[in-house]
Amino acid sequence: MKTQEAVPVEYRPLVSKSNWVHLSVELTSKCNLRCVYCGKSKDSYNALPGHDEHMADAVSSRIVDLAQELEFNEVNFNGTGEISIFPGWTETIDDFKKRSRSKLYVVTNFAKSLSEEELDAFLKLDRIYISVDTSDRELLMHIRRKVDVRMITHNIARLRQKGILENRKVPWLRFNCVVSDLSGKRLHELAAFAVAVGVDEIEMFPMNGCLNDAEGYPRPPSSLDSERMREIAEQALQAKQLLEAHGKKLKVTEELKRLMGEVHPEWSSGGKALEGVEDSEEEIFKAPKLPEEGVETRLCLQPWRRLLAGADGRVYPCCRKAEVLGNLNEQTVQEVVSDTPLMELRQALLDGNLKGTICRACANAPIGTVEEMQSRIEELVGPENGQ
Ligand SMILES: C[S@@+](CC[C@H](N)C(=O)[O-])C[C@H]1O[C@@H](n2cnc3c(N)ncnc32)[C@H](O)[C@@H]1O
Ligand code: SF4
Repeated sequence: MKTQEAVPVEYRPLVSKSNWVHLSVELTSKCNLRCVYCGKSKDSYNALPGHDEHMADAVSSRIVDLAQELEFNEVNFNGTGEISIFPGWTETIDDFKKRSRSKLYVVTNFAKSLSEEELDAFLKLDRIYISVDTSDRELLMHIRRKVDVRMITHNIARLRQKGILENRKVPWLRFNCVVSDLSGKRLHELAAFAVAVGVDEIEMFPMNGCLNDAEGYPRPPSSLDSERMREIAEQALQAKQLLEAHGKKLKVTEELKRLMGEVHPEWSSGGKALEGVEDSEEEIFKAPKLPEEGVETRLCLQPWRRLLAGADGRVYPCCRKAEVLGNLNEQTVQEVVSDTPLMELRQALLDGNLKGTICRACANAPIGTVEEMQSRIEELVGPENGQ
């Protein structure tokens, strides 16, 4: 009997072109804290494969190759875990600094006492995003448990002191503030705290759920009544005014702006609060509609611009961490970025054939026609039929 041979898939030229911008690296999925809203506070989450481990040395060195070969504009060390408990993280940063020209960012909790060597590594970065939801000591401990805001303050002061003493540029410092009913009551205080300790910017994210729903634990903004939401919006407005009066910045995610805009005129379209508030990189589109197969698609550029590498070596094309492109435990970077999963995902997005992909119902990208998608990708990587 004759067996049917598989017909090789013909990919469109735009499928094999890239314009790498962001690389996110999760050096570890282990953490020294157990914040109440984070998956890390649940044993069942930590028991999942890859959810509580350090990246293998061989993988982290492949990731440095990746940053060097693909010349990302930015490498962001973030994930579900805490970089500063990854053994040898300072050497890894040093490797990136020496071998790639990417801008380097970290998201960190600054919860432990940092050594001189660690401060030195932090000073090599372009940006440090420190997770601080409130300057109130008890409240921060209630939400983020084993962290003391006095340790965070001390670490910031020592970092700045070292920079000054050694005549080195201090990285751009940002507070990442997770807004809930509890932290949302004190945003104005947090802004004053940021100014006092020399932080350049605050970005506000809505808490997207809490792992502990007992009385007294934080509630996400999306679950609050309009009166409580209005208090948060008012606090955010005061925080903005205070930051701006001191030459600092506020960023707010689209989702939080939308929630505040529903209850506070200054945050609704054309309102004063929106002036000068930078958009966050994160955009959420409420998209109950699904794209029409073959005609429409998700206008998502991430698979042409972005890669995420998890602590277990798995590589993903976007922040949803759902489609796996490959594994750096078994493959080289070049193999991963030229392999079938990435090619198929790009082709599906270009052609609007999204059945069976996470992109079909994703709220992170708007819907548009396949023609619009083609022109957006061409803007990014050059014409379909050209060099
Ligand atoms: C997962 S942490 C990893 C980095 C580091 N461990 C830290 O906390 O800075 C990255 C960011 O996600 C935020 N985060 C965690 N759980 C969240 C939730 N349920 N809603 C919104 N943000 C959350 C954290 O506050 C932190 O700023
Ligand atoms: S410090 Fe970061 S990773 Fe750790 S539990 Fe808190 S939010 Fe999660």
